Amino acid sequence: MSKVTVSVIKADVGGFVGHSSVHQALKDRAEECLRQAGTLLVDFRVSSVGDDLTLIMTHRQGVDSPAIHELAWNTFLACTEEARRLKLYGAGQDLLSDAFAGNVRGMGPGVAEMEFEERPSEPIVVFMADKTEPGAFNLPLYRIFADPFNTSGLVIDPKMHAGFRFEVMDVREKAQVTFDLPEELYDLLVFIGAPSRFCIKHVFSKETGDVAAVVSTQRLSLMAGRYVGKDDPVCVVRCQSGMPALGEVLEPFARPHLVAGWMRGSHVGPLMPCSVAQATPTRFDGPPRVVALGFQLAEGRLVGPQDLFADPAFDRARQLALEIADYMRQHGPFEPHRLHLEEMEYTTMPEVMKRLAGRFVPLG
Ligand code: F6R
Ligand code: MG
Ligand code: MG
Repeated sequence: MSKVTVSVIKADVGGFVGHSSVHQALKDRAEECLRQAGTLLVDFRVSSVGDDLTLIMTHRQGVDSPAIHELAWNTFLACTEEARRLKLYGAGQDLLSDAFAGNVRGMGPGVAEMEFEERPSEPIVVFMADKTEPGAFNLPLYRIFADPFNTSGLVIDPKMHAGFRFEVMDVREKAQVTFDLPEELYDLLVFIGAPSRFCIKHVFSKETGDVAAVVSTQRLSLMAGRYVGKDDPVCVVRCQSGMPALGEVLEPFARPHLVAGWMRGSHVGPLMPCSVAQATPTRFDGPPRVVALGFQLAEGRLVGPQDLFADPAFDRARQLALEIADYMRQHGPFEPHRLHLEEMEYTTMPEVMKRLAGRFVPLG
């Protein structure tokens, strides 16, 4: 049996209402486009979180396949047409170029792809997040693949005991670096603790060399040289039999951490795990959300999804996220709720500074 590729490609091509959700008409259009791809795909699902439309595809073309990327691009174009017809908000906002040149990387859509030999049983989780950035997955991926207090398999499963290899991308300098854990744990943390610049891109099993996780690391704001929309990320994680158990993969989300990207891409808030039905962020355009869709692969077919955060065991995490949201909101336009100056996606600072220039009296 040849290898299977899981490609998760997402874009915000128009919101309903404002930036809060994806209209059903866009999802229907996306399904229609992917169905028409015939045998190019083994299987597909269309999903969404907030205003981000996600195409989950399986196929035999490998990662970075021009045919798959073109299919995704054309699907987003068709959905943009639909969004324009309904005058949805920000129609086509993540499609940065008019001409497709063989690969959607760097063009706007977020891409997380992995190719592997399907195991006798292959459970995967597709995470989709809205109102945040790719580095939002740094902390949970660290916990899943490197923290024995989260993942007891690192201690007691012989197939995981060697640890995992982390590939980290410097999104500003466009460079990447690899760390072997647990040996280089402290070195890794120097970087991934700064998630706006350093993002975990891949995780690999040291035991087998197999890919274990992948994150979309596009940063739209840097790609366009100006703010054009948020780079709300997706992430795929393989589970069980030498990989972390499903419950170890979901566990970090039980303690919501603070991430950047809330309201106007310029505020910090808790990442709230939620079900598909709860994935419409409307409180101050948030708080940031993450949905987890579970699948079993069967010869590349997607058996699922199972809506993993619908479990009431995550109710307390949601409650805690709401309490943190209340607390953070009290700061209004003050840091650290509002991002620091360099990270904000909206600012009036240069304009106001210019207008008041004459009123600044030099000191000393
Ligand atoms: C977009 C987002 C929103 C917008 C905000 C202002 O995903 O997070 O918070 O930034 O609604 O949107 P505009 O500037 O389009 O009116
Ligand atoms: Mg939007
Ligand atoms: Mg979004």
